[in-house]
Amino acid sequence: MKKNLVLVGMMGSGKSTIGKVISRKSGLKFIDTDELIEIQEKMKIREIFKNKGEDFFRQIEEKIILKVMKLDGHVIAVGGGAFINPKVRKEINKNGISFWLNWKEDVLIKRIRYNKKRPKVTDLTLQELRKLIVSRSKIYIKADFKINCDKLDKFQITKNILEFYEK
Ligand code: S3P
Repeated sequence: MKKNLVLVGMMGSGKSTIGKVISRKSGLKFIDTDELIEIQEKMKIREIFKNKGEDFFRQIEEKIILKVMKLDGHVIAVGGGAFINPKVRKEINKNGISFWLNWKEDVLIKRIRYNKKRPKVTDLTLQELRKLIVSRSKIYIKADFKINCDKLDKFQITKNILEFYEK
């Protein structure tokens, strides 16, 4: 059985977009765990954060990812905070091949600042956001592969990932 191909990285790094292209090119089925959380909770992520808090969201996130990681051969995009949880990370690295979609800090900041859909960052100052990116990068680096995306389009990123995955 083929391991899952798991995309990790900051919000705005294109995990869902790239995941869908990988799925089209490879035939592997695509799963977006944030979407599963929204379906299960019948609420948008933003509402879950607002009504139930981040800790609650993280519990649901952990449960759903541990369940999904029991599958084989899927392309799985997980939320930006998921890989920071050691239990989730362990499971991803056990039954998956993980890819960190890495971008320059300024590119990420441009994409995610002022985005109302992203409750984790809406109240952060620029400095706090930079700090979050730097501290998370120290964990994302634990993924099996780091893909430097800055100079690539989504098809080149997909090609690079599939080459490593299919080896
Ligand atoms: C989060 C990232 C989001 C979503 C939630 C929290 C984070 O997913 O899970 O808003 O803590 O980085 P995306 O990375 O898909 O935006």
